[in-house]
Amino acid sequence: MEEFIELGQIIFPTNPRVETWVTMDALLDAIEKGDVPKGGKSQLLRKDLPDLEYWVGRPVGFGRPQFKRYKVDLRNQTQPLSSWIVPTFEDGDYEAENSFVSSTNQEGARIVAEIFGDRAFNYAKPLSLIKNLLAQATRPNDIVLDFFAGSGTTGQAVLELNAEDASTGSARAGQRRFILCSSTEATTKEPDKNLCRDVCAERMRRVMRGYGGKAGYTLEQSGEFAYLQLDMVEAADVHFEIDAAHAFQLLALKRLGVICAEPQGAVMRLGRVEDCELLVCNEVNAETIETLAAWPQLHGAARLAIYSTRPQTLSEQLATRGVEANCYSLMDALLHGQAASGSGAA
Ligand SMILES: C[S@@+](CC[C@H](N)C(=O)[O-])C[C@H]1O[C@@H](n2cnc3c(N)ncnc32)[C@H](O)[C@@H]1O
Repeated sequence: MEEFIELGQIIFPTNPRVETWVTMDALLDAIEKGDVPKGGKSQLLRKDLPDLEYWVGRPVGFGRPQFKRYKVDLRNQTQPLSSWIVPTFEDGDYEAENSFVSSTNQEGARIVAEIFGDRAFNYAKPLSLIKNLLAQATRPNDIVLDFFAGSGTTGQAVLELNAEDASTGSARAGQRRFILCSSTEATTKEPDKNLCRDVCAERMRRVMRGYGGKAGYTLEQSGEFAYLQLDMVEAADVHFEIDAAHAFQLLALKRLGVICAEPQGAVMRLGRVEDCELLVCNEVNAETIETLAAWPQLHGAARLAIYSTRPQTLSEQLATRGVEANCYSLMDALLHGQAASGSGAA
């Protein structure tokens, strides 16, 4: 705060006035006359305040300091607009300065139909609306999360906005990423329905490829995306049901910051951090122990970090073969996998 005062960014009222009402009657009198500080048009001190007594005998200032911001200091130089959204068919009817034009859900339905050739999803939001909102609310390298992504309009909006930014030529432009989540919308009538896979993820592929005469994006322009499926495991069943596949992507994200194609086999390689090979071992048996014992020499690694269902046994077995490995529990990795690095084994 002191720094801002020194920089002249805190502007104090020009004629500061401070009042102290020494009795409740004097305060009530001032309230009656409207001679108390105001926030906009409303009085900040009112008779109905439960703690009005608190203000008796205390100095109360009129006016309030203001904070001066420079445009260059804003996180996003585009000022948020009012939420006044003018539907396309009423464009021109309003004089509201800070409004933006958005189409209606019909636009959403039309675009989904252009991409899929039929009405694959009924409640798609208009792309123009989501793009306008993202243009206001994001910076070019933000990650946009839509937890109720439905047909994936948000993902398409991110891709289009990135492409538009890139056309401005700015080096930092066009780097937004998206995380889209959706349910499958499967029901007892349609148990195999998978909206997330067949509409949301598929829409991203088609938009990236190009659709309905609209050009797609190069890999460099759009990047890639990973489609991941969550498995629901009841807490009581975790010990019986989890396996390496459940932990693999979580560990890849946590340890390497990437999503990896999942390798087949009982020993799965996550990757390497410096001279340490990161591995996931689903089953500890004679064969996997031999594979792991040979690993350092085969891959020129000084150290192994292995996630397995039986870390203690694995550690002992490898030690008898002269191989030093840090063995971690897969269970811990899953249960505590989302905690910050350094806490727990994961
Ligand atoms: C109104 S739609 C979103 C439409 C989206 N904005 C678009 O333009 O396509 C809401 C979506 O959230 C999904 N959904 C509902 N419950 C969910 C949950 N618990 N987790 C993730 N997605 C969910 C539904 O499947 C539905 O597709």
